[in-house]
Amino acid sequence: METAHRRKRRTRSFRFPAPGEVIIAPSLLAANFAELKQDLRRIRRARCEWVHLDIMDGHFVPNLTFGPCVAEAIHRAMPNMFFDAHLMVESPEAYINPFAKAGVKLLTIHQECCPEIGRVIKAIKKTGLRVGVSIKPKTALAKIESVLDRIDLVLIMTVDPGFGGQALIPPTLSKVRRLNLMRKAKGHRFVIQVDGGIDQSTAPLAVAAGAEVLVAGTAVFENGRVTENIQALRNSISAALST
Ligand code: DX5
Ligand code: ZN
Repeated sequence: METAHRRKRRTRSFRFPAPGEVIIAPSLLAANFAELKQDLRRIRRARCEWVHLDIMDGHFVPNLTFGPCVAEAIHRAMPNMFFDAHLMVESPEAYINPFAKAGVKLLTIHQECCPEIGRVIKAIKKTGLRVGVSIKPKTALAKIESVLDRIDLVLIMTVDPGFGGQALIPPTLSKVRRLNLMRKAKGHRFVIQVDGGIDQSTAPLAVAAGAEVLVAGTAVFENGRVTENIQALRNSISAALST
C-alpha cells in the first residue's frame, strides 16, 4: 500500500516552478541512448525532476528520434520524474493518447503545424495532461497570443528545432522578454521554457529575460559529467541572479 510519505514525495515531484524558481530540464536527445537508465539516475542524483523528451518525426523537422513506446519504457524506469514531451511532429493530434498512456505529464505542440491549435489544446487537456505551445525562432509571438490564457507553458525555441548542439539565436531572448512582459500585463499563469543552445553563458541571459524552465542537452551530458554539469549551470544562474 502507498504510504502517506510516498504519496507526498510523488506529489512534490509533479509541480511547476514556484515564483522565482528556475528548473533545469535535461534533454535526453544528448544522453547515451544505450545507457538511458544510467543517465536518468544521474539526472535524479543531481535533483532534476523534469526531463525533456524530444519527439521528432522526420517531417516537421529533418530528424527522427523516438515515440511513445520508448517514452513509456523511460517512464516505467523512473515513474517519479516529470516527463515533458516536445512534439516536433506534423499532425500531433494522432499522438496525444499514446503519449498520455506512456506516462508523460506535459505535451508541447508547435503552433506552426497546428492550423486549429485551440482544438488540439482542448484535446490534450481532456486527457488530463498539461499543455504547452512552442514557436520556432522565426515565428512571431502574435501567432500564439490568443491561446495564452489557456495553456500551462510556452516554449520559445532558441534554435531551429531538429538537432542538439546548436548555438542559441540571440534575438529569441528578446522574444522571451516580450512574452514575460505580456504575461505580467495580462496576468497569465503559463511558465516560460527555452530550448536550444542553453549553457553556462546563455542560461543566465534566458533567466534574466524571464524563462523559468531551461532545457539543456549538450551542456548537461557532455563528457558524461552530468552532476557537475548541472551544478555548473545552476551556479551560473545564481551568480547572475545575485549581481
Ligand atoms: C532541438 C531540441 C532540443 C535540443 C537541445 O530541436 O528541441 O531539446 O535537444 O539541445 P542542446 O541543449 O544541445 O542545444
Ligand atoms: Zn526540445
